[in-house]
Amino acid sequence: MNVHTEQYLHALINWADEVQQKLSHSHREFQLPYWREIDNWKNDIQAKIDDKQELTQEEMYRVKEDGEQILQTILANRKGKNTKRIGVGEHQLPPLPYAYDALEPYISKEIMRLHHDKHHKSYVEGLNNAEKMIQKWTASQNKQMLRHWMREQSFNGSGHFLHTIFWNNMSPNGGGTPKGQLMSKIKEDFSSFDAFKKLFTNAAQSVQGTGWAMLVWELQSGRLAVQTVEKHNMYALWDVIPLLVLDVWEHAYYLQYETDRNKYVENWWNVVNWDNVNDRFNRAQTLTWL
Ligand SMILES: [Fe+2]
Repeated sequence: MNVHTEQYLHALINWADEVQQKLSHSHREFQLPYWREIDNWKNDIQAKIDDKQELTQEEMYRVKEDGEQILQTILANRKGKNTKRIGVGEHQLPPLPYAYDALEPYISKEIMRLHHDKHHKSYVEGLNNAEKMIQKWTASQNKQMLRHWMREQSFNGSGHFLHTIFWNNMSPNGGGTPKGQLMSKIKEDFSSFDAFKKLFTNAAQSVQGTGWAMLVWELQSGRLAVQTVEKHNMYALWDVIPLLVLDVWEHAYYLQYETDRNKYVENWWNVVNWDNVNDRFNRAQTLTWL
């Protein structure tokens, strides 16, 4: 078994441990059946590691999907409202949906490891810390401190949420063009897929310093739009739902592409998971407000 596959499987087991830890706060009758399901899932993964089975990318994806399926069932069956509520300061680093080396040669395993394990993790920790400090803040304290923690929440929260979208926006089986309704809407709003791709590519390359490019669904106008953001949060177009996001921070490409961000952005299209973007788009369309 390839060492990266093994590390990924271990990461999934760790993720399952965290899910079980969260589950332990639920009623015992509720948690028991799921506890067993998670245990079975972990045991299957452990067996694969012990047997040193060689797994294809598809098989790895299925293992991860099985785990997510269990989590979705737990969330769907939890009693009461806000079943997905995450407590203040309790955000967790989600596992990557594929192995560290799965996006090679377009994005190297070294980048993925550093990006996910170090950078994304620090945003999760920063957000948790900011939330706890905001919760502790009282009106008798300095407002500048509150402003500081609000900024920390915005920066780290946007960092955490965008990276979570970013990992799922990519896939080793990605690239090509989107299908179905998303493609029709892209043609309607940007005239053609190529025109959209050109706009998105140029927008990503134009970001000053560090930041992101995004394809967003504008709820209020019923149109798709391309938007860039500096850092994770500056000049953000709020009240939109990111559908496809591209990290153009140096840490996302420098080890492999050095200063050639343009090349990174061009190559990145080969790993775009359009099924995931399509799914986000379809679900976003069910939302209405006003
Ligand atoms: Fe990043």
